[in-house]
Amino acid sequence: MSATVTAPLAKSAHKLFSDRINRIEVSATMAVTAEAARLKAQGIDLVDFGAGEPHFSTPRHIKDAAIAAIEGNFTRYTAVPGIPEVRKAIVDRHAADFGTDYAIDEAVFTTGGKLAIFNVIQVIVDHGDEVIVPVPYWVSYKDIIQYAGATPVFLETSERENFRIDPAGIEALITPKTKAIILNSPSNPAGSVCAKEDLFRIVRMAHERGIYILIDECYINLQFEGEIVSGASIKEAKEHIVVLGSLSKTYAMTGWRAGYALGPKAIIAAMSKLQSQSTSNAATFVQKASAVALSSSQACVAEMRADYVKLRDRILARLAEIPGITCTKPEGAFYVYPNVSAYLGKPGCDTPLALSKRLMTEARVVAVPGEAFGTYEHIRLSYAVSHEAVEEGARRMKEFFASLA
Ligand SMILES: Cc1ncc(COP(=O)(O)O)c(C=O)c1O
Repeated sequence: MSATVTAPLAKSAHKLFSDRINRIEVSATMAVTAEAARLKAQGIDLVDFGAGEPHFSTPRHIKDAAIAAIEGNFTRYTAVPGIPEVRKAIVDRHAADFGTDYAIDEAVFTTGGKLAIFNVIQVIVDHGDEVIVPVPYWVSYKDIIQYAGATPVFLETSERENFRIDPAGIEALITPKTKAIILNSPSNPAGSVCAKEDLFRIVRMAHERGIYILIDECYINLQFEGEIVSGASIKEAKEHIVVLGSLSKTYAMTGWRAGYALGPKAIIAAMSKLQSQSTSNAATFVQKASAVALSSSQACVAEMRADYVKLRDRILARLAEIPGITCTKPEGAFYVYPNVSAYLGKPGCDTPLALSKRLMTEARVVAVPGEAFGTYEHIRLSYAVSHEAVEEGARRMKEFFASLA
């Protein structure tokens, strides 16, 4: 054996963890969820506007499909990108909703939408590449990009324009290193919708410049008004478009871990190759149940969406009663992103993070600080809760902010 192998390394020469794991942080929303769970376990009564998940139970017919799959012993390994049934259901749903024409081998089913995003980034970016991300952004984009060794390049948006993603702003950020642009509409955390003209302009521009456009459609079925369009309906740009989807919010299936990607065959094959060396196939009965969710009546989605609209209106009305707080009107998803800058600088409330901590411990209201989404004057409230919880949470917030005034 060589001396280098047998000689004990000095402690300092050991690096406990890889550089790549040190480049990322625990998801801020998950951290808030964990702290809220800890307090709840102590019997503390919290109004939880933290977790980004529906308050609805998974619809009966979807649960039944999973139970039937388990009872039928559909519990063994499947093809890595998913059973043909679920891949077809993904493609057919997207075609029916948005007029796209993906083939089955242009779809991969993943263990949650987050994994689809993680895998596509791993597949397309290299060290030194840049990925354009509009602000405010969903927490995980930044870390997923950094984990892959690339650099997120942030597009600032204006709250006055409802956080509109300006195509000219994106264009100005493009460099020879730009590999991809991420779009998320309706967005987490502000619920803003990318206007059709802007969306199409961005997709066309990316395609002309040979840049990938990653379209996160996690909340597309929870858009409340206006024409609902997918960027993937620009068929001439198909070679540069990857659609990232999730069943989590649409069908109240967050814990099932069900997501997908639609894109050029070569990208989907590369994502499947990566998946073959990590998770392999998603849980078999989840695949069966997801096929049912996507291919059966979408009435359950319409019912849940109608309640989110009422909840949005309720929480906006209550927030408007709190002096100093302003809020853009979300056009989809189930979050509001109020501006709390009027209260920043009050004792113990220097930042949204500090304010959120006080909100949790003193007012017993859980909110996610805007820092997690790349802004410094906001908190995110998820209103996927009961109407009573909205009322109670708003009452507590009103009292808390009055005590700060
Ligand atoms: C914008 C956005 N994209 C993707 C996801 C991923 O969802 P999931 O991994 O539960 O499918 C989320 C979850 O919060 C999200 O908010």
